[in-house]
Amino acid sequence: MLGPGRLREARARLEQAGQPQLLRFWAELGPARAAALLQELERLGPEELGEHCRRAAAAGAREQGPLERLDARMQPVPAGGLGSTRRSAPAELQRWEAEGFHQISQNKVAVLLLAGGQGTRLGVTYPKGMYNVGLPSGKTLYQIQAERIRKVEQLAGKKYGTKCTIPWYIMTSEFTLGPTEKFFIEHDYFNLDKSNVIMFEQRMLPAVTFDGKAILEEKGKIAMAPDGNGGLYRAMVDNKILDDMEQRGIQYIHVYCVDNILVKMADPVFIGFCVSKGADCGAKVVEKAYPTEPVGVVCLVDGVSQVVEYSEISLETAQKQSPDGQLVYSAGNICIHFFTLEFLKAVAQKLEPQLKQHVAIKKVPYVDEEGNLVKPLKPNGIKLEKFVFDVFQFSKNFVAFEVLREEEFSPLKNADTGDKDTPTTARRALLSQHYRWALKAGARFLDENGCRIPEKISLSGTEDPPAVCEISPLVSYFGEGLETYMKNKDIPSPFIFDESKTEMPENS
Ligand code: UD1
Repeated sequence: MLGPGRLREARARLEQAGQPQLLRFWAELGPARAAALLQELERLGPEELGEHCRRAAAAGAREQGPLERLDARMQPVPAGGLGSTRRSAPAELQRWEAEGFHQISQNKVAVLLLAGGQGTRLGVTYPKGMYNVGLPSGKTLYQIQAERIRKVEQLAGKKYGTKCTIPWYIMTSEFTLGPTEKFFIEHDYFNLDKSNVIMFEQRMLPAVTFDGKAILEEKGKIAMAPDGNGGLYRAMVDNKILDDMEQRGIQYIHVYCVDNILVKMADPVFIGFCVSKGADCGAKVVEKAYPTEPVGVVCLVDGVSQVVEYSEISLETAQKQSPDGQLVYSAGNICIHFFTLEFLKAVAQKLEPQLKQHVAIKKVPYVDEEGNLVKPLKPNGIKLEKFVFDVFQFSKNFVAFEVLREEEFSPLKNADTGDKDTPTTARRALLSQHYRWALKAGARFLDENGCRIPEKISLSGTEDPPAVCEISPLVSYFGEGLETYMKNKDIPSPFIFDESKTEMPENS
């Protein structure tokens, strides 16, 4: 009930907290919107809201002052804690892969997707995982990920004679939960068991002006934004995710971000590497493409493992080279992490409050004092976010694993009007990988006239492969098992290789 007492109390508490503007349009709201606003204010708590706004304004002011450079305190990741698909011995890689498959076969591995972001750069109104980059099959990122889970479960089950399950935890936010759930239902969970797909929601935080006022995005609605991908740790407690993992016997968690079309779900090599090294926390990295590439760098700061975002490092440090001409800080963070359940429990239950709050200065639409909706041309608001990797500092044994960019990292960040990380570059990365796999398996490609298409082994990354061959994850997870179907076969381009086509065309 909306009694006058409740309103009076909220008003007094907001006044006290320095946020009376939030009730400016109260008289115009009508019962439903008024009730919703009051409920939101009570949920946030006027005192906590006031404190949040003060903290955000102070952090915003610091952010606009001189940048704190970490250069003098940085060191590269020590070689001992670094594995590499390029540099480690093949026998070692095989051992790690076997270890990873073993853990999967024992149902000890889960994957956890960070999918609460708003995907503003891509410019779509729906969650990024629902995006179709224009593959011949028309598959979305979610479908590709789901099929990779099914395939890696099958591979582990076959190797160790068990029936295995990799639960898929999906962190969403107020923006993405509804549409994501609907999409999975519409697609029958991509043939995964619904009980093994667990969606949960991260918290939202109010956006704040530079002078410390919470912003109204409508007359009766406070502007809110997800609390960053480091909101994971609080969200896991809020939604009892750690208990669910414990009940299922999960020990190792493979965390990843939604937009990398090449992500190897529950990658057995990475998991096996981390488990073999006794790590509690690990990160996959790629060699940075060029010194100023906008990816975080995995390194040590004051001897402690950390990701330093590209904005926090000077050009001089970014360009620094070792005597062999390699970049000293070359370990680019690709947002794929490994955690033990024990480590996550310690973070979520004890250490989370120590995580740094990062500041994002954004353009936040608002209603002005006259009640008009304004879309600001300049940034006007502060959002506070925590980052998933800021927990590396708590690790007792942190490891990093370097992988090949062309095999494992092609993120979808921007629309096709951008010059990198677009639907085109993601589609090209996947089709180039599949083309390489097919050639390696001994396939030959024919054009629409039946003429042989000359092979091109090394592709520049800015060109399309000469033949189009999309291989379903249900056929092959990392290029394995293709020879049986492809060796010395003439394949018409374009070609979609899914499970229905395990019989390949005869030689012409
Ligand atoms: C992220 C990494 C960056 C890395 C890059 C590689 C972080 C903080 N930064 O940057 O170091 O080089 O990926 O692609 O991890 N998300 C949520 N909730 C939120 C915000 C984001 O779940 O509140 C999710 C997104 O849906 C996405 C992932 O976190 O899946 C990464 O977020 P995004 O904003 O795309 O990070 P980048 O700035 O690209």
